[in-house]
Parts: sequence; structure tokens; C-alpha cells
Amino acid sequence: MQLCINIDHIAKLRYARGGTEPDILEAAAVCKKAGADGIVIHLREDRRHIKDRDVEILRNEIQTKLDLEMGANEEIISIALRILPDLVTLVPERRRELTTEGGLDVVSQKEKLRTVIQRFHEKNIVVSLFVDPQPEQITASKEIGADIIELHTGEYADAKNSDAQEQCFQAIYAAAKLGKSLGLGINAGHGLNYKNVRRIAEISFIDEMSIGFSIISRAVFTGLENAVKEMLALVKK
Ligand code: PXP
Repeated sequence: MQLCINIDHIAKLRYARGGTEPDILEAAAVCKKAGADGIVIHLREDRRHIKDRDVEILRNEIQTKLDLEMGANEEIISIALRILPDLVTLVPERRRELTTEGGLDVVSQKEKLRTVIQRFHEKNIVVSLFVDPQPEQITASKEIGADIIELHTGEYADAKNSDAQEQCFQAIYAAAKLGKSLGLGINAGHGLNYKNVRRIAEISFIDEMSIGFSIISRAVFTGLENAVKEMLALVKK
């Protein structure tokens, strides 16, 4: 199991004062030193938190895997094709959302996404689609040439009681199994924390987790390096 750390939340803190602190590059370096397998950043259309310059600096300075999360928006696509992250994760993007709110509807935009995936493949960029754990989204992702699906774990994380959480877990398990059987790489993320991550980490079909908010929140009390190490211990147990 690999663990990639979403450091958007560092950029959110920086945005709070509009300056240069806390430093994104330093955050990525600390995550790497702690043993993280990669760094995730979301370049939004409105550049709310992560800026173009952050993507360039991270690409040039950090040797770990760089996963660029993005909407399938032409301007952002051309930036990704120029900067060449190792992986792009396509997500739906709504302007007013606080964070990504749900999976991509691959089924309804197969042709558009197929072309976007082909353009990334021409530059040897691996493409992941962030989807809800629904069989039709997974088979559609395979059909249009995605390399990886990232299963949205938000509903599992936010479930109001143990029955609802169990249902969500079973859906994620089945989706991961289906995706693997189709030859897709399987990532998972959103809302995972130190309490709910273990069950997901134990699903053998999942290759990688993308976790941000809980780690940065923990880091306020324990420091970023310790927070990453604690999560790594849970994810790689
Ligand atoms: N995966 C995707 C596609 C996301 O949009 C996010 C949130 O930015 C995450 C994973 C990480 O979620 P969290 O910050 O809740 O750990």
C-alpha cells in the first residue's frame, strides 16, 4: 500500500494570510522525509489555494511521485501537459465547493474524457479518475482507457452510523475488486482519518491512498513528520 499526502491544506493556511507561509515545498519535503510515497495537489480553475507556480516548483524540486488533481478544464489540461506530473487525477469541480464533493460522472461524459485521457497518454502521464464506488462508473472508466480509478471514500467517512458505514465499506470493497479484475490500478481517498483508515487499508485490491486533511490537522499538535509517520504505520501495517 502506498500513501500519498494531499498538501492543499497547507496552501489553504497560506491563503489565510495571503503570504508565503507555510511553505508548500517545505511541507512536501517533510512528507517525503517521513516516508510518504507521493504528493498530491489540486490545481483548481480559480487557483484558490494551489497556484501554477506551486505546481512548477514541486515538479522541479521534489523527486517523489507528483499527483496533480484537476478538473477536465482546457486551461488546466494544457498546464498539466506542459508540467508533466507523474499522475493526473481527474475530479469534478464545482466553484463554490469547500472540497471535492463527489466522484466524476464518467458514464455521462465518456467521449470527452476518452479524448482527455488520450492526450495525457501521448505525454506518458498516467491517468486516474476519481469515481464513486459504483460498478457502472468503474466499467466506463476502463472502457475509455483510464489507468487507475480513485475510489471516493467520503460517504464511508461521513456515514452517520455503523450500518451505513458498513454498506459504504461493502460498496468500496466490491468496487475495488471489480476494478482490479478489469486490470485498473486502485486508489482511494477523501475523508480518511486515523480512526477510519484501517478497514480501507486492509482491502488488498487497493494500491494507494490519498489523504490530506486529517494528517495536516494532526500535524498542528504533533508536527507534520510525526503525523505522516503515524498514518504510514496505519496504512502499511
Ligand atoms: N482524493 C481526492 C480526489 C480529493 O479531492 C481529496 C481532497 O482534496 C482527497 C483525496 C483527500 O481528502 P482529505 O483531505 O479529506 O484526506
